[in-house]
Amino acid sequence: MFSMSKTLRPLITLLTLLNVLIGYGQKFTNLALTPPMGWNSWNRFGCEINEKVIREAADAMVSTGMKSAGYKYIVIDDCWQISRDSLGFIQADPQKFPSGIKALADYIHSKGLKFGIYSCAGRETCGNRPGSHGHEFQDALTYASFGVDFLKLDWCNTEGQNAVESYGLMRDALYAAGREVVFSMCEWGLSKPWEWAQDTGHLWRTTGDIQNNWNIPDAKEGKCWGGGVIINLDMQQGLEKYAGPDHWNDPDMLEVGNGILTQSESRAHFSLWCMLAAPLFAGNDLAAMDKVTRELLTNKELIAIDQDPLGKQGFKIKDYGELEIYYKPLQNDELAICILNRFSNSIGIELNWKNMELTARKREMFLNFQ
Ligand code: GLA
Repeated sequence: MFSMSKTLRPLITLLTLLNVLIGYGQKFTNLALTPPMGWNSWNRFGCEINEKVIREAADAMVSTGMKSAGYKYIVIDDCWQISRDSLGFIQADPQKFPSGIKALADYIHSKGLKFGIYSCAGRETCGNRPGSHGHEFQDALTYASFGVDFLKLDWCNTEGQNAVESYGLMRDALYAAGREVVFSMCEWGLSKPWEWAQDTGHLWRTTGDIQNNWNIPDAKEGKCWGGGVIINLDMQQGLEKYAGPDHWNDPDMLEVGNGILTQSESRAHFSLWCMLAAPLFAGNDLAAMDKVTRELLTNKELIAIDQDPLGKQGFKIKDYGELEIYYKPLQNDELAICILNRFSNSIGIELNWKNMELTARKREMFLNFQ
């Protein structure tokens, strides 16, 4: 790492200078024409990660049929990094990743999968590891040397920073480093990235962290910023017009298979995320998942709705209080309808398909003209 650092230093200075001089800003295009699918370590493992956990997730991604169902990114979230060396290069925790990150990336690639990593736009990550602030170009080059295909960039410890500038800087750094990387922005929707980030990231979080429950709100500074499945679902209302191929709203990773949601809540969670054209990142222990979880996460019809090439985010067209109807336009003039019963008792509903189709089309026309 040390000798590579010496070679890279003049290159970093040059790239930074060039970027400043040209004022060049571009993301890699056509990397996420449908919502990205993969697995991320955070929801199930938090900081309790190591190379064994990540390798086992990659193995299980293949052996459980998740890879064949369309999942391809294996993403290490926070806590893989521990310090920077004397030249400022980010170092992986040697206790947890004794073989190094490059070897792990190679292993993941050898399975026909893609490799994702995590950092933070601030000085420190949310888990108090070194962040990328002030090291954007250096980190982007390091990621390229590891073989990174996906970067999640968080927003902790960013006091005084501006989201447009900070995420723009990392986008430029990734582009300058020359390796195609899907850029996943995790600033929790605070600066409404759906309004400005189309040319910056391929996906952006629209809420705070999903919680492993059905409907309990999570508050930050006295304000609900996300929470259980239903809370994050409701926060997607009205955002549908901002999503599309290569730029997706991200209501956060899946909690399916993490032992708290009931079977019907898990089914609703997964189905609704597919209706929303949400990025699908499984957040459970793939190596230990049961049959019901596997069948849900690999459900072909649901995944086809999520991955429909038209790339439209579904939205609510009817609200009966306890019952809601969601609609998602699909390619070839097809459509998907999802009926959600938000509460625990069963409720009957009679639907007139023709009326519903008309309502959906009318709502869509209205949206297109806005
Ligand atoms: C933030 C993010 C989470 C996760 C943690 C890691 O809370 O929103 O998704 O990455 O940080 O510390």
